[in-house]
Amino acid sequence: MRSREISTIRNLLKKEDVRQRETICLIASENYISQNVKEALSSNIINKYAEGIPYKRHYPGCMIADKLEEYGEKLAKKLFKTDEANLQPYSGSIANLIAFKAILKKGDIVLAMHPYDGGHSTHATKYNISGQIYKTFFYRVNRDGLIDYDIIRRSAKKTRPTLIIAGSSFYPQEINYKSFYEIAKEVGAYFLADIAHPAGLIAANLHNSPAEYADIITSTTHKTLRGPRGGLIMFKSKFKRAVSEALYPGVQGGPLLNVIAAKAIAFAEALDESFIKYQRMVVHNTMFLCQLLKELGFKLYTGGSTNHLIIIDLKPVGINASQIEKELESINITSNALPVPGRDGKTADGLRIGTAAITTLGYQECDLQGIAEILYYIIIKREIDRASKIQKSIIRRVKNY
Ligand SMILES: Cc1ncc(COP(=O)(O)O)c(C=O)c1O
Repeated sequence: MRSREISTIRNLLKKEDVRQRETICLIASENYISQNVKEALSSNIINKYAEGIPYKRHYPGCMIADKLEEYGEKLAKKLFKTDEANLQPYSGSIANLIAFKAILKKGDIVLAMHPYDGGHSTHATKYNISGQIYKTFFYRVNRDGLIDYDIIRRSAKKTRPTLIIAGSSFYPQEINYKSFYEIAKEVGAYFLADIAHPAGLIAANLHNSPAEYADIITSTTHKTLRGPRGGLIMFKSKFKRAVSEALYPGVQGGPLLNVIAAKAIAFAEALDESFIKYQRMVVHNTMFLCQLLKELGFKLYTGGSTNHLIIIDLKPVGINASQIEKELESINITSNALPVPGRDGKTADGLRIGTAAITTLGYQECDLQGIAEILYYIIIKREIDRASKIQKSIIRRVKNY
């Protein structure tokens, strides 16, 4: 046994535990999984190979895997009210690639949200392999920073895409999936909704769902949905064969059955009344934080938020968001610097903060007040020591809850 090496790794994992305990996580795409999800992740089913779909595997010994995956699919379909679900995608990025492969041919045209405005890099941008396979046009937000369905309609009529994508990594408002569907229908395009960020809000019926409208829905399972890190695809029944073939052998190999079990547990948890309460609290905390930030003089992109994330516009303050991100990290607060949508995408002039993770830990209004003050002391007053003291008092208070 290489015990020295193993203890090095164990020590690093312990240090990460401490880091997480001592850090205020404002990263909008992170969350904390439950004990039940954690238990499933460390189960022995990880030892099993199960290429293929339930009851049609390329390996023997899959009788339990078949039942487990089928049950997980059933829970996903119940939660999101979709015809079909596949829990095998390793991640949200891979889920997108699988979805594209299932419905597009090489060279097909895709219309997606511009990456400067929040479109994900895997939405056929030039930074991703998908952008090299398909030809992409992008729609931008309007002058108010909002998704404008007339702009998208005009763009769709001009570019005649085979696929239109809705979905963003930093849009703080609800997306109208019906409007996307109508536009796609008008131009004869498929419609894909990537709900990686608002999945939890949609599952809790707090935001409208694309289930009725989208040909394919992709998602991650670890952001607002609060499951293990991973991807998910849901689709109309007519795409069942195309999706399973695009998945294996098209893009992936053997599924991670422990992660599938953990996803199934997260879906079961999301079907519980307590999850709806949690999502309501996420939105409440976001709106409360928006109000506090506005009172402190901050400008917020789109004027606020109706989901789990806020973008503070730092342009009026004249400080680069990457600097603020680093300063916050130095006092154990994590957040993301990014360009404010609607601009040239060259400057990190926005700070993205989210409430999904802190709401899981039970942060209350007094803690949000503290977070708003920290941002004020760091960004406006430039008093890092004072901000650090507030950070420590929040961490102490949250431990005592
Ligand atoms: C909208 C959107 N789609 C896809 C992804 C990719 O997910 P993953 O990191 O699991 O590959 C993300 C991740 O942030 C995302 O925000």
